[in-house]
Amino acid sequence: MFEFRNVTRQFGSKTAVDSVTLDIPAGQMVGIIGRSGAGKSTLLRMINRLADPTSGSIRFGDRNVSQLKGADLRRWHRDCAMIFQQFNLVPRLDVLTNVLLGRLNHRSTVSSILSMFTREERIMAIAALERLGIEQTALQPAGTLSGGQQQRVAIARALMQEPKVVLADEPIASLDPLNAKIVMDALKSINERDGITVITNLHTLDTARAYCQRIIGMAAGRVVFDGSADELTSEAVHRIYGAAGGAELDETITSTSINVPVAAMKMQPAGSISPLALHGA
Ligand SMILES: Nc1ncnc2c1ncn2[C@@H]1O[C@H](COP(=O)(O)OP(=O)(O)OP(=O)(O)O)[C@@H](O)[C@H]1O
Ligand SMILES: [Mg+2]
Repeated sequence: MFEFRNVTRQFGSKTAVDSVTLDIPAGQMVGIIGRSGAGKSTLLRMINRLADPTSGSIRFGDRNVSQLKGADLRRWHRDCAMIFQQFNLVPRLDVLTNVLLGRLNHRSTVSSILSMFTREERIMAIAALERLGIEQTALQPAGTLSGGQQQRVAIARALMQEPKVVLADEPIASLDPLNAKIVMDALKSINERDGITVITNLHTLDTARAYCQRIIGMAAGRVVFDGSADELTSEAVHRIYGAAGGAELDETITSTSINVPVAAMKMQPAGSISPLALHGA
């Protein structure tokens, strides 16, 4: 359970996030939408401690996220995985090693330096790649994969952390519609099958509607909508996208048109081995 209380972040005189108060129960899939500059990334980055609030607090259970230091902060980075628009893989390393890097926060410094991943960790990494339908790329340099494949590697790496929360900052903004659907389906599966809380920034309305049980709309740093897809009326859409400057709402900027036939999908069926289930087996 996340509790945001009057979370504010200023950059000089600019207020990027303005007094946000929210509760997010464990296990939700939340989409954050809003125009460019609305404060979506800044809000996510404060959860992951890539930025800190100027005032206000973010709590997760009994942890005061904004105050964590040292070992507690490392534990938080293990519990809270982040996926980026540009994947953030190590391009020259092979896919399997990139995925195994997700284990680093679980390991001692010595074994990390010697880079001795255990047999169990390697099995877990292969299972994560299989789950995402890209096990055949395991030995390729990550930089040689397509964007959609690279984002799936990033998700597999996140799963290796055995996180409680996955944050994703526009995970499909660089992808074509087929890969966008594969990646969003993977995030949904992580949420539904593993019970992991997923909070994702999305620049398109239709993706948020299709995948997120809860949608948070931001405008000028503030939460101006918080509800289900059904509650996202055209009036609410205008509040989110039309608030700044009264600009004409252009539906095309809010749509990626993910409408790929299911048969084209390569996701593994439900019931295949979860890397989470394998760990400790
Ligand atoms: N490090 C920074 N220094 C100065 N200003 C910043 C910084 N990071 C964000 N901002 C400003 O804060 C505001 C919110 O930015 P943010 O990146 O959170 O928006 P966003 O909703 O993620 O936008 P986009 O959809 O373009 O990614 C913007 O006006 C931005 O210019
Ligand atoms: Mg952003």
